[in-house]
Amino acid sequence: MNRREFAKCIGAVAGVAAIHGFSFANEGEKKMKCAVVYFSWSGNTRFAAETISKKAGADLFEIKAETPYNSNYGKCCDEAQPECYGKTLRQIKPIEGLDLAKYDLVFVGSPNWWGTMAPPVRTWVTQNKGALTGKSVCLFQTHGGGGMQRVGKEFAEIFGDTAKVLSPKAFSGSSIKSSVAALEAFASERISGK
Ligand SMILES: Cc1cc2nc3c(=O)[nH]c(=O)nc-3n(C[C@H](O)[C@H](O)[C@H](O)COP(=O)(O)O)c2cc1C
Repeated sequence: MNRREFAKCIGAVAGVAAIHGFSFANEGEKKMKCAVVYFSWSGNTRFAAETISKKAGADLFEIKAETPYNSNYGKCCDEAQPECYGKTLRQIKPIEGLDLAKYDLVFVGSPNWWGTMAPPVRTWVTQNKGALTGKSVCLFQTHGGGGMQRVGKEFAEIFGDTAKVLSPKAFSGSSIKSSVAALEAFASERISGK
């Protein structure tokens, strides 16, 4: 095959890939079985979780508090503050259909609350630490200007060396809808081990 024929051949393969709506990178990503588990009070972390799950071809699960937090921002902050500072494990509802044994990598999403993860996330991680033994886990969080603060460190501390804790990432909550490319890049990088 000469150079021109080779170039034609590559072009044809790329064309077929484009028509079928996949990329070679995505093909590789799908080999790792992923789940995204998240808690969200006002929707920012939900948007991040949905975006990451689409990119990763992951199953998506929501953590819900047994008793929801107050829907008023100030009241929610007041309610959450002692729980966050005291590392309280707020009761959560069981997540139907989630079998962690099926997954290689579990992304865990939380809003930054008082510098740490939201209590329902702390509860879920603590309750499921055993089932996540030997797996890869990766935190993402959304925040209101504080960035990562203590969230990543405290998340990693819960696991110790029982799981492979991948590098966490913080996303601004107020600009989450314009962060799709960054969220997708985050998903791809962690799946490929970066
Ligand atoms: C109870 C509460 C405490 C918060 N504490 C912080 C904080 O300490 N630092 C910060 O950057 N943002 C803080 N925020 C802002 C949220 O982290 C931010 O709006 C986040 O994107 C919300 O995610 P959600 O829409 O998924 O609930 C707080 C919000 C609430 C409701």
